[in-house]
Amino acid sequence: MIEVTNIKKTFNAGTINEKHALNGVDLKLEDGEFVTVIGGNGAGKSTFLNAMAGVWPVDEGRIVIDGIDVTGLCEYKRAKYLGRVFQDPMTGTAADMEIIENLALADRRGKHRGLGWGVTAGERDRYHELLKELDLGLEDRMTAKVGLLSGGQRQALTLLMATLQKPKVLLLDEHTAALDPKTAAKVLETTDRIIAENHLTTLMVTHNMRDAIQHGNRLIMMNEGRIILNIAGDEKKNLTVEDLLHKFEEVSGEEFTSDKAILS
Ligand SMILES: Nc1ncnc2c1ncn2[C@@H]1O[C@H](COP(=O)(O)OP(=O)(O)OP(=O)(O)O)[C@@H](O)[C@H]1O
Ligand SMILES: [Mg+2]
Repeated sequence: MIEVTNIKKTFNAGTINEKHALNGVDLKLEDGEFVTVIGGNGAGKSTFLNAMAGVWPVDEGRIVIDGIDVTGLCEYKRAKYLGRVFQDPMTGTAADMEIIENLALADRRGKHRGLGWGVTAGERDRYHELLKELDLGLEDRMTAKVGLLSGGQRQALTLLMATLQKPKVLLLDEHTAALDPKTAAKVLETTDRIIAENHLTTLMVTHNMRDAIQHGNRLIMMNEGRIILNIAGDEKKNLTVEDLLHKFEEVSGEEFTSDKAILS
């Protein structure tokens, strides 16, 4: 489903701010794999997801999604294959539009029909069902403005919007990091359910090592723009946070430098 071969990205090349953010990343994923991505601050996790999404062109390497070489496609053209949710609950939804309008817009992304035609009864029923499954009471507030929702409610809605069209790849970049622990756990539970129900191939960045171990079927660790650990199956299931810290030190020769990861 995903074949990433030797991608490299340098920011500000040739200046004193030159940064080799991706130093040859390789990753092969089967259809439906759910990968958690961990690594210290500045390891290149977000840069990797941005490369997948085509935020800017990579300097080298190839990205193939479901047999389609998307390396040369701009962000806009690639968007139809991807669903994305970021850390900030304020992005991803339109605050001054209603919940139902946000859903309808996401549903029509890339299609010719805009909102001008209104939402059909069938669509309304479908959105009602999907919102009900979130278990946040949003199905009874479909005409409320999204700006009135809590951060957790907005992230859950963004997740729903990102997956309405069943993307080939779902990219989650610390999408629960800004939420309180209880809400984060709930949004993660919803994430698991939506991924499983739709059999979505997923990359989820998290700073929480315990979440990285508990969720998904594969775990990768990044350091200095490289994948330094790639674990799946039973080996992943049996991991502990101590194992991960130890492995990181073993492979990178340094201590893990994300306070968030160690404290949470
Ligand atoms: N658009 C950009 N321009 C210049 N430098 C960038 C850009 N995006 C990322 N970088 C740099 O690339 C490196 C990797 O950043 P990235 O955001 O991928 O780290 P990360 O692993 O997501 O870290 P964090 O856990 O802090 O989110 C950092 O040194 C960062 O400053
Ligand atoms: Mg990041």
